[in-house]
Parts: sequence; structure tokens; C-alpha cells
Amino acid sequence: MATITCIDDLKQLYRRRVPRMFYDYAESGSWTEQTFRENVSDFSRIHLRQRVAVDMTNRSTATTMLGQDVAMPVALAPVGLTGMQSADGEIKAARAAERFGVPFTLSTMSICSIEDVAEHVSKPFWFQIYALNDDDFNRRIIDRAKAAGCSALVITVDLQILGQRHKDLKNGLSAPPKFTLPVLLDLATKWRWGFEMLGTKRRFFGNIVGHVEGVSDPSSLSAWTAEKFDPALNWDRIRRLMDMWGGKVVLKGVLDVEDAERAAEIGADAIVVSNHGGRQLDGAPSSIRMLRPIVDAVGNKTEVWMDSGIRSGQDVLKAVAMGARGVMIGRAYVYGLGAMGEAGVTRALEIIHKELDTTMALCGERRVTELGRHNLLVPRGFSDGWE
Ligand code: GLV
Repeated sequence: MATITCIDDLKQLYRRRVPRMFYDYAESGSWTEQTFRENVSDFSRIHLRQRVAVDMTNRSTATTMLGQDVAMPVALAPVGLTGMQSADGEIKAARAAERFGVPFTLSTMSICSIEDVAEHVSKPFWFQIYALNDDDFNRRIIDRAKAAGCSALVITVDLQILGQRHKDLKNGLSAPPKFTLPVLLDLATKWRWGFEMLGTKRRFFGNIVGHVEGVSDPSSLSAWTAEKFDPALNWDRIRRLMDMWGGKVVLKGVLDVEDAERAAEIGADAIVVSNHGGRQLDGAPSSIRMLRPIVDAVGNKTEVWMDSGIRSGQDVLKAVAMGARGVMIGRAYVYGLGAMGEAGVTRALEIIHKELDTTMALCGERRVTELGRHNLLVPRGFSDGWE
């Protein structure tokens, strides 16, 4: 592809270059994928107020998230198996984010370990955990994140059990992939991916393998979650994890006002309004629809961010104008990573930044921190009117 102009161009390239199993993993929602689709389509229901004859010189997309300076209100979300999208993928993404000036979040379900990533960046990154039913493991992984200098803990609260994504079951998703005939046939056309993968030792769940016992198949995400995740997670357990960490905490996966109030009450420094990219409860509303009532309820008590459905700088602007302090992107950067490695993540960030900056200007704004609901035309009943 000659000229890459948008995130969708990166996605097309990604689709051609990365084995089907991992493309499908990223590109799936649970069950019917209604929520997965609506996360994206609901953004296009919101329109922008075009303003003219407003001075648009000296624009800035800079702001802060968790008190940290960011070049734009966008952080890289924790994404499992990123090191299967491209060899050493988490290291590449962390480096691209650091150079761009936005935060990177490492997933517990990463291929490169916390220590691996720490060795390859110079500034602190954020670390994400799921609550496991093994407090010893929870403590050890939190201690490892502290030792690696991570500056915030992102606790995923919407994945006590894994939503079913049909394609992952059909594909026999695992890291590394098992060499079945369909996988081998697919790999024959993905030689660049295979070649790079042969050049790295990082092909297993790096934070897990060798650090935990009693999982029937350590290469399988579904075996892992079924056997080790804590179905008994409650607010007290979340608070215990927060105490174990003792630093800045982000609670990711809140979609309901009552839950947001609870999260603010227990002292979350930020919450992420999220339905896990449509990968957990199919039929839940899109994140952008739930953002406004949550900002209204707790926006003065904690930072409210959102994820799920962001594919452009215009989406970032809409979320921020709706009241989000910042957003997390997952698929949008994974497309870039799978398409072009580290340079592809940088390209994804550049695209989003340019779209955000230009849209801001055409809306008559010069600072991302001054965006507000006055910039949006939101259809009546978008975030309320439920029976
Ligand atoms: C893990 O968090 C996943 O959504 O697969």
C-alpha cells in the first residue's frame, strides 16, 4: 500500500501480514458482536459543530492524564498477546508510545514480560492486572511491577470470566500457535511475521510462564482465565489490590453509574468507561453512550477516561468533548503494530494526532483542554431515555 492515510489503511495491511488467528483475536467481540459494532457506529451518530472565523493559530493537544504530561489525551490500552501481533510487540509499542509522549500500558497477558519492557524504555510505563484467585501471584506480580518502576496500576474489573469470542474457539487460539494444517497454510502467506518470530525468544506469556503453577495449558488464554481468574472479585478485593500497590490506580471496565460511584468512593485515581472493546458482555451499550452520565456523576471526584470504539482523532475529540479526560486505544495501535511494527504504532499515533488537531481547529478550538459539549451535536436520547 503506497500511502497510508488513516487507521483503516493500517488495518488492511495488518490483515494481510499477521496470521489469521491473531487478527481474529484482536478483531472480535463476544457472541453476536453487537456491542463491538455499536462502539464504533455510535461515534458516527455524534456530529461536530463547525465554527468559522476563529483564530486557529498555536493549537495544542497537550494535557495530563493521572497528573502526567501527555502529547494528546490518548494512552495505549493493555492488550493481551501483543507480542504475537509482531515479534517483541510490547517492546515496540512501548518505545513508540514513549517517543510520541503518550503512556503505554502493559497487559498481564503480554508476551514480553514486565522486566523485558522495562529494559527497553527509559520512562515509567503503566501495568495492568486482572485479579487472580491466587493472592500470592497477585502480590508477586504487583511487586515485579513496582520493581520495574511502573507508575500506575490499571486493574481490569470487567473480566472475572472470559466472554466467548467464537473465532478464538474455532481457531484454537494459543500463544505460540499450535502447528495445525490450517495454521501452517496461513503461515505460508505470512512469511515476514514468521521470520521475525523465529528471531525472538519471546513467544510465550512472559509474565505467567514460570511464575505460576496449576494451569492445564499455559499457552491458552481461555484455560488461563477459567482456571486462575477470580470469579469472586468484589469491591473489597479490589481495594485490597489497590492497597497492595499503594500508588496511582486506574479501574478499567466500568460502564454503569452505580459502579462508577463505587469506584470513586474507594479512591480510584481514574476510571475507564469501557465494555472491553465489546469483548465481554455482548448487548451492553457502547462506551461513548455511557460516558456522559458517568462524567456527570463522578467527573468531579476522579478522572473519567473511556475506551472501546476509538478509531480516529475525531473519536478522541468526541470523547473528550463529552467529558472524558483521556481515552485508551487498543485495536487502533495494534493494527499499526501488525502492519509495520514499531513504525506502524508511531504512524497510528501520528494519524490520530493529526485528525484530532485538524478537527479541533475546524471546530474553532485551539486547546484540547477547552473542548466541551458546546462542540458537539448529540442526538436526543443518545445517553438517556432508557425505560
Ligand atoms: C483479554 O483481556 C481479552 O479481551 O482477550
